[in-house]
Amino acid sequence: MSAPPVAVVTGATGDVGRATAHAFAVEGYRVVVGYRRDATAAADLASSLPGTGHDPVHVDVTDAASLAALRRYVEAQVGAVHVLVNNAGVTRYVPHDDLDGLDDALFDRIFATNVRGAFATTRALLPALRRDGPGLVVHVSSIAARTGQGSNVAYCASKAALDSMTRSLARALAPDVRVVSVAPGLIDGPYADALDPAFVDAHRRATPLGRLATSADVASAILAVARDLTFTTGDVLPVDGGRPLV
Ligand SMILES: NC(=O)c1ccc[n+]([C@@H]2O[C@H](COP(=O)([O-])OP(=O)(O)OC[C@H]3O[C@@H](n4cnc5c(N)ncnc54)[C@H](OP(=O)(O)O)[C@@H]3O)[C@@H](O)[C@H]2O)c1
Repeated sequence: MSAPPVAVVTGATGDVGRATAHAFAVEGYRVVVGYRRDATAAADLASSLPGTGHDPVHVDVTDAASLAALRRYVEAQVGAVHVLVNNAGVTRYVPHDDLDGLDDALFDRIFATNVRGAFATTRALLPALRRDGPGLVVHVSSIAARTGQGSNVAYCASKAALDSMTRSLARALAPDVRVVSVAPGLIDGPYADALDPAFVDAHRRATPLGRLATSADVASAILAVARDLTFTTGDVLPVDGGRPLV
């Protein structure tokens, strides 16, 4: 029996990360459950996934030592990586006209995680992604990259940078590795729960398909890129119910 394909998911204990880990496990992948802070949640998630061989692994995408350890773990324990989902992301709500509210520390943390972190994780795993190629890197982006509307100015800019990096890396790494962005609209989950309900409701009403995205919608799209959209690279797949149309 051949070994199952391998998916590495960063930020796997978050809302989208959990759904993505689950979708790949159901599809028969061995999942590397990347976590930053909550080792217990990662271990619980790994043991709850269907199939075997799922490992919780500490991955802080802003920390070179952590990514070097991930690379060593993959080389020693895993071998080829078929899919890397660069899902880890941070933000905090700051109104776009409150320029003092978006201080340098927050701006830098958003870019270090959402942009440099995705690049550095891909760099760390590139030999493994090429090993049994073509490998796939999925960047979990956002509708904010296109609309310029979202939790703060830096967050929107970081997701636009991520989509630009999708195009650059797709060109640079072809044909060994495909690179695709998946760009959700506002997700019905913990982040939306913390927002003003009137804002969330307005967003829902302004979405042609009449509801917010779910983490399962996003996971399905990521899985579709891996399983079905096999001649796609360097592009952005929206999961937004048509929100930019209105
Ligand atoms: N929620 C939405 O409405 C929405 C919409 C569009 C796009 N997205 C994108 O979807 C992705 C997942 O978001 P989510 O809604 O699932 O948020 P979430 O529940 O907050 O999950 C984010 C995950 O990223 C991890 N993370 C943060 N900094 C990290 C670092 N330096 N290294 C490794 N992991 C780190 C977090 O781990 P810790 O908890 O340990 O910090 C957490 O597991 C993000 O890229 C986000 O920008 C979300």
